[in-house]
Amino acid sequence: MISEGAGNPVHLGRVLISRDEIETRVRELASEISTDYAGRTPVFISLLKGGFIFLADLVRHLTIPHEIDFIAVRSYGSGFERSERIEILNDMARSVADRDVIVIDGIVDTGHTLSVLEELLHGREVRSLRVCALLDKPSCREIAVDVHYVGFRVPDVFVVGYGLDFMERYRNLSHIAELVPVAAGDAAAAADASGEAERRNGEPESLAAPARPREAAGEGAPRRNRLES
Ligand code: IMP
Ligand code: MG
Repeated sequence: MISEGAGNPVHLGRVLISRDEIETRVRELASEISTDYAGRTPVFISLLKGGFIFLADLVRHLTIPHEIDFIAVRSYGSGFERSERIEILNDMARSVADRDVIVIDGIVDTGHTLSVLEELLHGREVRSLRVCALLDKPSCREIAVDVHYVGFRVPDVFVVGYGLDFMERYRNLSHIAELVPVAAGDAAAAADASGEAERRNGEPESLAAPARPREAAGEGAPRRNRLES
């Protein structure tokens, strides 16, 4: 159990996406990206911190040459809070001018973070730009961003695991779980407080559907200097 500030205790709820489901989908995405970017050497930019595990797993299944980099952003507000204020904490090490860039994000929620990053990268004159997110919460979008590769669409619940945190906890889970408020006398909360929940690998009762691959023609090749629709 975690207490946020003056209260608001939470604990791990059900598994939304299992380790196996994630692994299968990450392989599919890597294969799709390898096909789309054949003959190119894209730069994968992972959004820290939530995208670090996703990037690490994804690149191991790529069959094309590529480079990686990181950019650390912070959206104000901890825990469940949402914020439109985005700050770049650590910039990437290289120039991305005239490069095919793929941003790797753990989750797209309101879209504000990606929108800021999109503007930044276009300003640096990338050759093409696409976003690959493990999770998408389309119902929470406040600003339009084009997420070209989506692992799973999830409902409007707070999720943790596979890089995603709640107050820096739970990033190490191999699956995606829902975080829920503690009900009085809740046994799961006690197990969570002891660290048991993070050791357990519950079998999934999956709520999230793998995002369907994009079908329409003309979506294969990255276009210059913009996100595709
Ligand atoms: P945005 O609202 O699309 O700008 O997303 C901002 C950031 O909020 C994400 O990159 C995550 O770090 C975090 N976030 C949004 N929803 C969740 C969630 O359900 N679990 C954990 N982090 C989240
Ligand atoms: Mg976070």
